[in-house]
Parts: sequence; structure tokens; C-alpha cells
Amino acid sequence: MEADLFDLCEASGTHETHFRVDPETGMRAIIAIHSTTLGPALGGCRFRAYPDTTHAVQDALRLARGMSYKAAMSGLPLGGGKAVMLYPEQTFDRARLFTAFGRFVESLGGRYITAVDSGSSVADMDVIGAVTPHVSCTSQGGHGDPSSHTAYGVLRAMASAAAYRFGDPDLAGRHVAIQGVGNVGYHLAGLLHQQGAQLTVADTDNERVARCVREFSADAVSSKDILSVDCDILAPCAMGAVLDASTVDTIRAKVIGGGANNQLAEPEMGRILQRRGVLYIPDYVANAGGIIQIMGAYRGESPTDTRRRLSAIYETVSSVIEYAERHHLAMSDAADQMAAAKIGE
Ligand code: NAI
Repeated sequence: MEADLFDLCEASGTHETHFRVDPETGMRAIIAIHSTTLGPALGGCRFRAYPDTTHAVQDALRLARGMSYKAAMSGLPLGGGKAVMLYPEQTFDRARLFTAFGRFVESLGGRYITAVDSGSSVADMDVIGAVTPHVSCTSQGGHGDPSSHTAYGVLRAMASAAAYRFGDPDLAGRHVAIQGVGNVGYHLAGLLHQQGAQLTVADTDNERVARCVREFSADAVSSKDILSVDCDILAPCAMGAVLDASTVDTIRAKVIGGGANNQLAEPEMGRILQRRGVLYIPDYVANAGGIIQIMGAYRGESPTDTRRRLSAIYETVSSVIEYAERHHLAMSDAADQMAAAKIGE
């Protein structure tokens, strides 16, 4: 039986979901606003094909909730939202499509601010910017690609976890395995190399692996083997749901912290990791650097203030560790409870 869209919205806690169809350009988009308690809902515009509308709605709802939690845990004056635009089956004019999407964003009067996400680009944000001010990541004002900031935030999260797990925040000599050395993973590898960490990397793109071997003296393993590398820290920086029933029991890292969104296939995976003694840094805490930078640029914050917020990811991770210990919770459940309390859920 088809999932009821209202039930999906209610179950996710997202009480406001907008649909827009523009037959002239072929645009079909959904904007899910999970929370505006702390400020306007900021979240990227994902542009891809979905098997059906239910999958598209589910993706928007799941991602919008993640954005609320990410902003809340980083102390940002933002709510959480997400847009998904369905990749048209017919040939289309990209600029007209994103212009139509921009008008959709504008119609929400600033309750939702859009940004880059997989499938959309800085150039697309510039097109949107011609019809609405409620857009970030444009080429104006140095917003651009936030990946290097995301990587720096992950580094801070790792240092905090290392202080707790190994008694020393210094990452020199630590062995870190990185799954996916694209934008975030590559920057992270560079930062870790600078700090004297030993790296093992994997990517489905051989050239990206070769770049890390060449520039950072990284060891390379296959994409299949990277999750079970015997290392100090595992950094998933490729795609979501990598920690599932078939992989959690094979993890040999003592800490997991990376840039990828939605790393846990199900909430139970976080509890299994906890029982196995693996310190899992909740993804939306570790990878908040991107949204911190985007918000800073959007609001015209000084680079020093943005850097301070990025650096504070260290303290946020420490606070989650402390909460988890005090309440005997898995790290993932602890962060969810803390974030939900912050947005009054
Ligand atoms: P990207 O597309 O530049 O990099 C992902 C890399 O993973 C690519 O090099 C790809 O070839 C590789 N990959 C794909 N499947 C793989 C597999 N099975 N095994 C090994 N490698 C594989 O994406 P980006 O921007 O670096 O983002 C990475 C993750 O971080 C995504 O999940 C994204 O949603 C998330 N994220 C990114 C932020 C950013 O600032 N770019 C901010 C917050 C989250």
C-alpha cells in the first residue's frame, strides 16, 4: 500500500511541506520546513531523479529534520528545511528551471532559505538569486563551496573525540581511514596530513585516490574494505546509510566521525556501535561546518566569528559525550535528545 503523505509528514515532525509544479519549465519541487523555532529554515536544494513522489517527499522530510538538528546543535539562529527538485524526464532549460524554483522559494516569504546540495551548483544559486534574496551559496559575497569548512569542523570533532577516547586531542600519529575523498574528504585528508596523521583512503574514483596518495602519502584500499580498516578513526565522507546491519559489526575503528549526512541506516546502528565500544560522533554535529560557513556569509558575519563557531564544534562534541554518559545513552540518541530539546520538540 502507498504511504500516506500526511502520515509521513506527521511522523517526521515536519508540519509544513509545500509542493510546486510549473508545467512551462517542467519544474516539480517540494520544500519541507521542519522547524522555524530558532530562525528561518535553511537547507539545500537537492536536484535528482526519484523513483516516485513518495521517495522524494521522504528524502525532503528526513533531510529537513537533519538540518534543524544540525543548526540547533551548532547554536545557529536557524531552523531546518530542505528542497528536492525532481530531475525532469523531458529535456529542459536549466536556467528556466532554477528560476521557477527561485520563485517558489520567494513565495514562502523568507521562511525557507535555499542552498547548494547534491545536483545543484553555485551557478544555479546565482540564477535563483535573480528572483529571490532567500538564497545562500551564491558566487557573490564569497559564499561558494563550503566543503573546506565542513572538513575543518570534522577535524575539530575528531580532536574532541580523540581527547576523550585516547586522552589526547592531538591527531599526530593517529591512523585515520577516510571513505570518499571528494570535496570534503580531500580537504579533510589535507588537514589531517598537516597535523601528522597517517591516512588510509578509498574512493570509487581512482584519480581522487591517486591524488591523496601523491599529495598526502596516504595508503589506498578498496571501497569495500575501507570501513573495516583497523584504525583509530573512521571518517565516512561519501554517502549516507553506510553504517548498516552488514557493516557495524565489522568496524574496527575506535572513533567514527565524518562529513557524510545520515551515516546510520537506522537509529539502532548507533546503539550497536555504543555497545561495541565505538565512539560515534553524530554526523550532523561533526559536519556542521558547511552550514556554519553558509550562515556566516549569508548574514555578513566576520570571518573571525565564523571561525570561532567552527572551532566550537570541539565543545559541542564534548557536550554530547557528557550528556550520553550522564544519561547512559548512545551518542546518536544523546544528540537527538539535545537537539529536540533546543527546538522545543
Ligand atoms: P563529493 O561528491 O565531492 O565526494 C564524495 C566522494 O565519495 C566522491 O569522490 C565519490 O567518488 C566518493 N564515493 C561515492 N561512493 C563511494 C563509495 N561507495 N566508496 C568510496 N567512495 C565513494 O561530495 P562532498 O561534497 O565531499 O560530500 C560528501 C558527503 O558529505 C555527502 O554525504 C554530503 O551530503 C556530505 N556533506 C557535505 C557538505 C559539504 O560542505 N560539501 C556539508 C555537509 C555534509
